[in-house]
Amino acid sequence: MVDDAKLHQFIGQMLSDLGGAASIALVRIGDSLGLYKAMHEHGPMTVAELAATTQVHERYLREWLSHQAASNYLAYDPATGKFSLPPEQAMVFGIEDSPVFMPGAFGLMASMLDNQAKVEPAFRTGAGVAWGDQAGCLFCAVARFFRPGYVNNIVANWLPALDGVVAKLERGAKVADVGCGHGVSIVLMARAFPNSEFVGYDFHPSSVEQAERHARDHGVGGNSRFEVATAKNYPDKDFDLVAFFDCLHDMGDPIGAAAHVRQSLKPDGTWMIVEPAAGDRLEDNLNPIGRLFYAGSTMICVPTSLAQEVGLALGAQAGEARLREVITAGGFRQVRRATETPFNMILEARP
Ligand SMILES: C[S@@+](CC[C@H](N)C(=O)[O-])C[C@H]1O[C@@H](n2cnc3c(N)ncnc32)[C@H](O)[C@@H]1O
Repeated sequence: MVDDAKLHQFIGQMLSDLGGAASIALVRIGDSLGLYKAMHEHGPMTVAELAATTQVHERYLREWLSHQAASNYLAYDPATGKFSLPPEQAMVFGIEDSPVFMPGAFGLMASMLDNQAKVEPAFRTGAGVAWGDQAGCLFCAVARFFRPGYVNNIVANWLPALDGVVAKLERGAKVADVGCGHGVSIVLMARAFPNSEFVGYDFHPSSVEQAERHARDHGVGGNSRFEVATAKNYPDKDFDLVAFFDCLHDMGDPIGAAAHVRQSLKPDGTWMIVEPAAGDRLEDNLNPIGRLFYAGSTMICVPTSLAQEVGLALGAQAGEARLREVITAGGFRQVRRATETPFNMILEARP
């Protein structure tokens, strides 16, 4: 028997879900055309005022603004006919360095839709979809998605949570950032610790090129460099710190990667593993954050891992207990959760 009240409640959820899905393109347009930033800078504006400020066609803008007001992404004042970006919404859409700036997340949702054509056939075959073969702008979307968390946490919170690492970085340490992607994390660390040397490794050549450009643009080319290498074959040794930002679970052979990290560290070195926040059991992750990570995991992380040797496919919600098994199987004796945010857990592994 269908319970009418439950049905209505579920349809309410569907309307909200579809509203979010329908907003993906509109939020990206607002971000890309600078509409949110203009509203944040200039305060309440009519359609005509915003159109003139941002050089956007007024008819399109009226429709976009109406959608945004209906979404509670903007406020509308019928008395003045003006639209505004309230301070809380500005944190999410208008302020690039805010810890909750989310346009990058909408970009990632768009990449996941683009990935459907490749991932859906893989559901039948069990084959992987290689990282480099995934949707066009996935790599930029990933970099932008993680950036707010990194800007607000790596130097201020995550490195200080590791035992003795900041003192080494201040004196001058040797650091590897493995699976470095577009190099956002390296740039932040290299700028904060000019006495230390940073090397970024990633097996995706175009990401390494982007990372080199990114480091040059931010003036940290002097103490950072990048190389194409896998987590199991990067060449250098004697690192004080090896960092893996949101990539261990993407690897085909994370145990092999752990063993390689182990032999590339100094005896008193540290491995920092940043992974998505997750509980150990499925039932711990049946919440809005787990929902998003399981979606990303299905469309991006599991296909990436299955395309590599071993194909362990940990998934983005592996949980601390499973990650500990992998890390200790690679030869690390001490593992502790150094700190966490609502979105990430930061593990510290020592030989
Ligand atoms: C989700 S992205 C994270 C990128 C970056 N660390 C960040 O946080 O923005 C995962 C990265 O891991 C890299 N990757 C995946 N498997 C790898 C492997 N076996 N060896 C080296 N890099 C790998 C991918 O190329 C990609 O850049």
